[in-house]
Amino acid sequence: MDRKVTVVGAGFVGATCARRIVEKDLADVVLIDIVEGMPQGKALDLMESAPVEGFEAKIKGTNDYADTAGSDIIVITAGIARKPGMSRDDLQATNVKIVKGIVEEVVKHSPDAILILVTNPLDVISYLAFKTSGFPAHKVIGMAGILDSARFRYFISEELSVAAASVEAMVLGGHGDTMVPLPSYSTVNGIPITQLLPKERIEALNDRTRKGGAEIVGLLKTGSAYYAPSASAVEMVKSILNDENKVLPCCAYLDGQYGLKGVYCGVPVKLSRKGIENIIEVDLTEEEQSALNASSEAVKANIAKLGI
Ligand code: NAI
Ligand code: 2OP
Repeated sequence: MDRKVTVVGAGFVGATCARRIVEKDLADVVLIDIVEGMPQGKALDLMESAPVEGFEAKIKGTNDYADTAGSDIIVITAGIARKPGMSRDDLQATNVKIVKGIVEEVVKHSPDAILILVTNPLDVISYLAFKTSGFPAHKVIGMAGILDSARFRYFISEELSVAAASVEAMVLGGHGDTMVPLPSYSTVNGIPITQLLPKERIEALNDRTRKGGAEIVGLLKTGSAYYAPSASAVEMVKSILNDENKVLPCCAYLDGQYGLKGVYCGVPVKLSRKGIENIIEVDLTEEEQSALNASSEAVKANIAKLGI
């Protein structure tokens, strides 16, 4: 294939991203991890599924960044995941060190790539990757909003007993307890959920969405979610590689949009071959805007700890 995607971190999210990318024949994949043999083993196992699944894309497992050279997209999933009782912010000190080193390596070998960050705490890690890479902001994008919105969409579909695919929803803000679900922009085939559900049920679904990651951690006990996160990251890969111009909620660098500046936060963006084509500003109520402000302040407080 003439497209190459590197996935850094061959753990639950990374390996599942790699699998989804090759099964959709989106690109050849390089799967890289610090653990020797593990990405090679997972890559070989995945390649052995090709005759059954019927995909042509190739996947190579490695521990050597030279193999990542010339990637179109680099998806960074490396780092520790949370365990019960931990917040995403508790991961910051460890994951900052890991991701900084990775970004320094990948940009050397793929200076024209687009970076998609997945590692938590997502908004801070995206800012770190932006500063470390020296890439323009439209080429450094975090994945969270698609996942948070997908959770909200699923919860709405379950509540109303309607097909999940007929539900659209929007969640903005940081990928943490302060995220901002927007019921007024959440619809069932165009019908706002505010016309379909009472206020208290909508508030319960908002709350479950905000705690969606923790709900999975509580059940799994040894790690965090990876099926919906990998599906969400690959949705971004697909929109970029296929130049789809999909409008998706992603973690983007804000330079005045929504009245916020110098921070990474979840907002709707148009994703094309260029990366972020543009950030879309939707009208927010006073309450929604102040929730978004509070969320970005929480991200900024953690960005300040980076000391960069
Ligand atoms: P995992 O523990 O299964 O995989 C992490 C992998 O990173 C491991 O294989 C580990 O060996 C590797 N790694 C560690 N240091 C490395 C280095 N220096 N270079 C290369 N690889 C290295 O964890 P999982 O479940 O895959 O989660 C990964 C990260 O993604 C976590 O930080 C988690 O919180 C985050 N996450 C973020 C989501 C989001 O919405 N943004 C959703 C789900 C997970
Ligand atoms: C999630 O929301 C762990 O951030 C990850 O599932």
